Amino acid sequence: MIARSERGCEGMKAVILAGGEGTRLRPLTLTTPKPVVPVVDRPFLRHQLDLLRRTGVTEVVFSVAYRPERIQAVFGDGSRLGMRIHYAVEETPLGTGGAVKNAEPLLDDTTIVFNGDVLTDVDLPRVVAEHIATHAAATLVLTPVANPSAYGLVELDETGRVRRFLEKPKPSEITTDTINAGIYVLQTSTLALMPPAVNHSIERAFFPNLLSRGDLVRAHVHRGYWIDIGTPEKYLQVHRDILGGGFPVTLEGQGVAGGWVHPDATIEPGVKLQGPFYVGAGCRVLAGAEIGPGTVLAARVNVAPRARLSDCVVWEGTEVGEEAWIEGALLGLGVRVGRRVRVTPGAVVGEGTYLSDYSRTA
Ligand code: GTP
Repeated sequence: MIARSERGCEGMKAVILAGGEGTRLRPLTLTTPKPVVPVVDRPFLRHQLDLLRRTGVTEVVFSVAYRPERIQAVFGDGSRLGMRIHYAVEETPLGTGGAVKNAEPLLDDTTIVFNGDVLTDVDLPRVVAEHIATHAAATLVLTPVANPSAYGLVELDETGRVRRFLEKPKPSEITTDTINAGIYVLQTSTLALMPPAVNHSIERAFFPNLLSRGDLVRAHVHRGYWIDIGTPEKYLQVHRDILGGGFPVTLEGQGVAGGWVHPDATIEPGVKLQGPFYVGAGCRVLAGAEIGPGTVLAARVNVAPRARLSDCVVWEGTEVGEEAWIEGALLGLGVRVGRRVRVTPGAVVGEGTYLSDYSRTA
């Protein structure tokens, strides 16, 4: 992790790409855009803002297109977080490249760009320092993955200079295990290369163009924590990682039986608790219920007697009925789970769904 004193990005601005529809996280993202889905005890982008603020970045441009009003309602002008947040709103989505171009008038000479769905402990001051020291036009953060063939590959020379980009590589072309992590440092002047108001991709169009005109494009390989929360599996995984200490976050609440309980939550005596778990503000867990490892109750969730929950994320306002059994699942806002309902691993239940008594999801 970055030492809190290491404020090596002081005064720099960051653009956060937060305008995607998040189709792979539907139905959760039909009403709640991915940048503000809860991740344990706070909207996702708060985790990114926390990282940026620790490095000295206090001014951020949110590049938004899908449900911008929901994002603005959560973050406002940033003053509650001690930051300044601007919004560059797209009338129609401009893709990851067009989105940065759209934010250009708000930027200074050197800009940090973050995909709005990645959580990482990357050493940003170091990436920025390398970028400046090498006079690069752009520096990409790369991260290793187990199966790089499913991604676009970035091939480097021994000095860290990008040699070429490879989309959908054949097995014989896979010479590296690192992929684009969705975090960049750019000289803002390079954005002159981007066509204004045209939908295009920063990774598939802009960076290859920059390379082919001979600009210095470099990479920083980050081997620490990195995840993108874009699928239900990874969204669940990020909760396991935070609860298990794999990504350190100071959660609001106090330690109880290997988990965390918000001061405004009620857990009746006679609840069986097995950590790690998180029980958020205003939740009520009644006697005889079981909260097992990996359970996250975001806020105002009521759990009835003898209900059993484990390895699941339950959003605000959900009601869990008596003897319901929820495991390995995601439940959106205000879901009502009836008596003896079985919600099985892999289930993703959208906002306001009513699962009547004895229902099963598979
Ligand atoms: P899927 O639909 O599930 O692929 O998710 P997504 O829409 O978020 O797309 P993807 O994961 O490829 O996007 C990566 C990042 O870029 C996310 O943080 C998105 O919010 C952001 N993004 C994608 N497209 C746009 C866009 O057109 N405009 C803006 N401002 N951001 C975008």
